[in-house]
Amino acid sequence: MGEEQKIWKTAFGLFPYKGINLIRGVHQVEHLESLETFEIRDDDIFAVTYPRSGTTWIQNILSLLYHGDQMREGCNKKSIQQLVPWFEENIRQVDYNNMPSPRTFASHLHLSSIPQGLREKGKVVYIARNPKDVAVSLFHLHNFMKALESEPDFDTFLIQFLRGNVLGGSWFDHVTDWYAQKDEFDTLSLTYEDMIKDTRCAVVRISNFLGKNLDDKTIDTIADKSSFKNMKEDPQAKNDVQHPAFFKQSGSLIRKGKVGDWKTTFTVAQSEMFDKIYMEKMKDLPLEFDWEL
Ligand code: A3P
Repeated sequence: MGEEQKIWKTAFGLFPYKGINLIRGVHQVEHLESLETFEIRDDDIFAVTYPRSGTTWIQNILSLLYHGDQMREGCNKKSIQQLVPWFEENIRQVDYNNMPSPRTFASHLHLSSIPQGLREKGKVVYIARNPKDVAVSLFHLHNFMKALESEPDFDTFLIQFLRGNVLGGSWFDHVTDWYAQKDEFDTLSLTYEDMIKDTRCAVVRISNFLGKNLDDKTIDTIADKSSFKNMKEDPQAKNDVQHPAFFKQSGSLIRKGKVGDWKTTFTVAQSEMFDKIYMEKMKDLPLEFDWEL
């Protein structure tokens, strides 16, 4: 690793952990190491994503599918972070081993550090998003999270994104490694763009994959409660509201929710440079993204 890369990781408040970069003070190595041998149950569900690819969205869908609306009201009110915890961050120190089944988790972990028992049991919903929109969304996150150093210059950030020196590590490694080995897991692969194009259809695919036979009305309700507008207004769906200590006051994790927002930020030169690197790194993976809608 070059000296420059090391400096960047330090500057961003990150530390490398088995293929991805995690946040100092938020992720604990001891907890991370315990996860690799974490005992998986047959009915465990993991939503796996590279950061900014729709994690909060799938957390919301899974909490509606599994934990129901009543969990979100009255004295039982719980946030999606409690219902579908971020597996590798355990600030609340919940004993995952004692959680009732079915357990639902969200994770950004790289294939190499995900619990290896998932190859035998449980299900994975993997969501990928076009990396230009991911880069812009992650740029805003780096400037919104208190634990990460701000980087106001997108050009500088983009170079680090392409090198994998950002939260989550290399987008290319995360996506290509998961796609290369997805058949070794019981996996449903979706793209963020497909979810945007037809959220209801995505909810049907997810619920069918998870063996839920839901009536049309329930599907409609889940799709409606998972719309960008409704999630933006729902404090239970917003992880930034749940963790004010981690986020600055201006900004939101649920930001624009668009396909093609990268065009407002990338210059033509940045886009051409990105395309060149993308073509090279993704040449063996037959994965098509919508870059705009
Ligand atoms: P933008 O920053 O482009 O708006 P993650 O939860 O993995 O961090 O991903 C965050 C991205 O998903 C943000 O993208 C956010 O706005 C978007 N998002 C969250 N909920 C969404 C929804 N219901 N519909 C569409 N996009 C959503």
